Amino acid sequence: MINNRKLLITLLAVCSLYFCVHVINNSGTPVFRELQQSGRNLAALEANLDNGPLVVQDSLLSAEPTRIFKNSPISVPNARDASPMEKTIPEKVLDIIKCMDKPMAAKTQQRGDYWVLYNYITPEKKFRCHESITYTTHADYSFMDNLVPLLDRWRGPISIAMHAPGTDFQNTIDSIAYLRDCVDPLVKEYVTFHVYFSTKHVPKVVPKHNNVLTEPYNCSLTPPFANVSSDQMYKAQKKLLYPVNVGRNVAREAAQTHFILPSDIELYPSPNLINKFLNMIADNKGPLLSKNPKVYPLHIFEVGGNQQVPETKTILKEMLSNKSAIPFHKNLCPSCHNIPKAKEWQNTEETEGLHVFHVGKRNGKYIHWEPIFIGTHNDPLYDERLSWEGKSDKMTQGYALCVMDYDFLILDNAFLVHKPGIKLYKKDSRRATLAAKTNQLIKKIIFPELKVLYGIRKGCAV
Ligand SMILES: *[C@@H]1O[C@H](CO)[C@@H](O)[C@H](O)[C@H]1NC(C)=O
Ligand SMILES: *[C@@H]1O[C@H](CO)[C@@H](O)[C@H](O)[C@H]1NC(C)=O
Ligand SMILES: *[C@@H]1O[C@H](CO)[C@@H](O)[C@H](O)[C@H]1NC(C)=O
Ligand SMILES: *[C@@H]1O[C@H](CO)[C@@H](O)[C@H](O)[C@H]1NC(C)=O
Repeated sequence: MINNRKLLITLLAVCSLYFCVHVINNSGTPVFRELQQSGRNLAALEANLDNGPLVVQDSLLSAEPTRIFKNSPISVPNARDASPMEKTIPEKVLDIIKCMDKPMAAKTQQRGDYWVLYNYITPEKKFRCHESITYTTHADYSFMDNLVPLLDRWRGPISIAMHAPGTDFQNTIDSIAYLRDCVDPLVKEYVTFHVYFSTKHVPKVVPKHNNVLTEPYNCSLTPPFANVSSDQMYKAQKKLLYPVNVGRNVAREAAQTHFILPSDIELYPSPNLINKFLNMIADNKGPLLSKNPKVYPLHIFEVGGNQQVPETKTILKEMLSNKSAIPFHKNLCPSCHNIPKAKEWQNTEETEGLHVFHVGKRNGKYIHWEPIFIGTHNDPLYDERLSWEGKSDKMTQGYALCVMDYDFLILDNAFLVHKPGIKLYKKDSRRATLAAKTNQLIKKIIFPELKVLYGIRKGCAV
């Protein structure tokens, strides 16, 4: 009897731990609390201890039984292993990443010198943290022509922060309304819009989040983002800088999913990336098992202005060989986006699914690499003192990743393609001046801070 009681206590301790760690219901609430409250399962345990194998049926968890055997040594096998039923991909992903869902709530908040309307316009589809990847990005309304081509290939959640100072605000709202009501239902389904502006450039009228887009948009009107020239914009009239990293961070922090793809809106991912990526995560093999923190960079390409964006790596390879596609920024800043083993990647045939092609580091030849990658909320954010015009806006994050010894797990069959049109070098003296100032800011102020906060490691630089 005493022995049995000891056994029971041990069992309960193990069980509590087990449920506490592993069982999370759909709203992210540990089911453990429910088990404790009901006492039903505990009673069942006691009654069955002497009667051979016991099955605790937990319908909240899944239809799978957890078997607990009477003979010592007592072990509580993982329900996943003992199960005769194969788990779904999202269930496997959840087991591995153990993420928590968070609510998508509208809020108005200050962030440094900016006001931010988080979750200002929200989508119909909601995703739990393990169910997808969120493409997080930033823009002003003149870039909104990219949203539908991007969505068409991504087909998953997008979190976008829109810079909308002064009179740019109404054009931004009208652009969103036009895309949602007149262009493609995918916009309403998948895209969360956040809006932000400097405290010095607050628009005259800002409707509450539940009072914006109350009227359907008149689809006969020309969308505000069509053929907009930059001098029509409030931002240009007031000579404001584009606070790219405020936008990046807002969009990232508000993303609902564990995995995120922080990117620039003109970069379109290869189709079916989300499913392929989650399958790879669920497989959890090879370099994915390393203890180092990891991100998953994507190769980036440009295609000619009159070209289609390639759907597969096979087509991309053909376009590379006839020069209708080239590696991104080949003409502007080859070292910024040059990826380890790039030539080998381009010479490797497309295969089924998605795998790690090569594990790289941001050092040696790649010391200034500004990769775009699938990562998580654990990755360092971007420095909000840096602007798009000043350049080097992702370098400080790159330094932090290097010091933290991140593995860069380069993916084999996935890639990004810039909106068609190959970029040529254009002289811009205002940008050159700002870039020089930014370099000083990074060298004199930011880099010393990063060394204090993240430390130093041989081979790492901003
Ligand atoms: C998860 O648990 C909470 C708290 O018990 C409950 O309110 C919620 O409805 C549950 N969610 C689902 C999807 O079962
Ligand atoms: C929509 O816009 C068109 C073009 O400006 C205009 O002719 C039409 O009257 C508008 N419709 C409504 C319902 O406002
Ligand atoms: C934008 O400009 C292009 C070329 O200049 C023209 O073909 C197109 O019709 C214009 N679009 C709108 C909506 O005005
Ligand atoms: C290059 O290859 C692509 C894909 O096969 C094809 O669509 C395109 O027309 C080709 N371009 C030239 C200039 O041959």
